Amino acid sequence: MFEITDIASLQNQVRHWKAQQQRLAFVPTMGNLHQGHLQLIQQAKSYGDKVIVSIFVNPLQFPPGTDFEQYPRTLTEDTKKLEALGIDVLFAPEMEDVYPQDLEKTTKVAVPELSDILCGLFRPGHFVGVTTIVAKLFNLVQPDIAVFGEKDYQQLLIIKKMVADLGFPVEIQSAPTVRESDGLAMSSRNQYLTEKERETAPLLYQTLLSAKQQIRSGTTVAEIESNAMQALKQAGFKPDYVSIRKAQSLEPVTDVDAPLVILAAAWLGKARLIDNITV
Ligand code: PAJ
Repeated sequence: MFEITDIASLQNQVRHWKAQQQRLAFVPTMGNLHQGHLQLIQQAKSYGDKVIVSIFVNPLQFPPGTDFEQYPRTLTEDTKKLEALGIDVLFAPEMEDVYPQDLEKTTKVAVPELSDILCGLFRPGHFVGVTTIVAKLFNLVQPDIAVFGEKDYQQLLIIKKMVADLGFPVEIQSAPTVRESDGLAMSSRNQYLTEKERETAPLLYQTLLSAKQQIRSGTTVAEIESNAMQALKQAGFKPDYVSIRKAQSLEPVTDVDAPLVILAAAWLGKARLIDNITV
């Protein structure tokens, strides 16, 4: 595995493989790798001849006052895990190389509408940060295929729209959410939970499962959302939203027969947890 930090070396390596007609599969991450990331990477191995994983904690996607400073950085352990998986390149660039100018002055890539709802409402600027860094990484890595997790469902749809709108020659694949044995979706942010909060945390997923059952039983969308918010509050969460949306567009639901997704974001102590299930 090549560990690359500078952009010129990455581009040399990419050029070399492109000249050999190698198919490049890419998995962008912010590191602190857990089983959810590793599953994405395993999947990427089946899609490409060469697999490139990036680790970069992207300040542009952390709205002011959020956890950019506290976000867990575990490059040594991550490197070992990637080495064991037999990937080809770990690209872990330095901040100054990715953003040579002030963040306010750097060029942004924005996907309107989809970025402004749900998590975008509660974390203004977050998705512009995501699309900007992913667009930049796509330009540097030039992958044939990139893999994203369904855990971040809204992010996945936004990336797909960016790729379609801007004509990136990249195929986007998704991988299902990997969960702990009690149902909690794996996330680097789960480490922010106290022992007691960690016991409560699986209730987020259980609430989504219960909402899914209520859809089947014919309860109205508004009632289901309100029941779910209530259940989360009672358990000690501070929910941002629970929302039933069309699975393809995230538009509000009029017809519960269409493919749907139930999405939720809720604070538990210092951790903002997100999860979703499709119906
Ligand atoms: P990060 O949170 O590190 O996640 C990297 C990738 O792993 C994303 O595609 C995410 O959806 C996926 N992932 C995380 N937890 C998962 C789980 N439990 N099951 C399945 N997949 C999971 O998402 C980001 O980083 C950033 O926004 C990034 C795209 C790298 C841009 O900075």
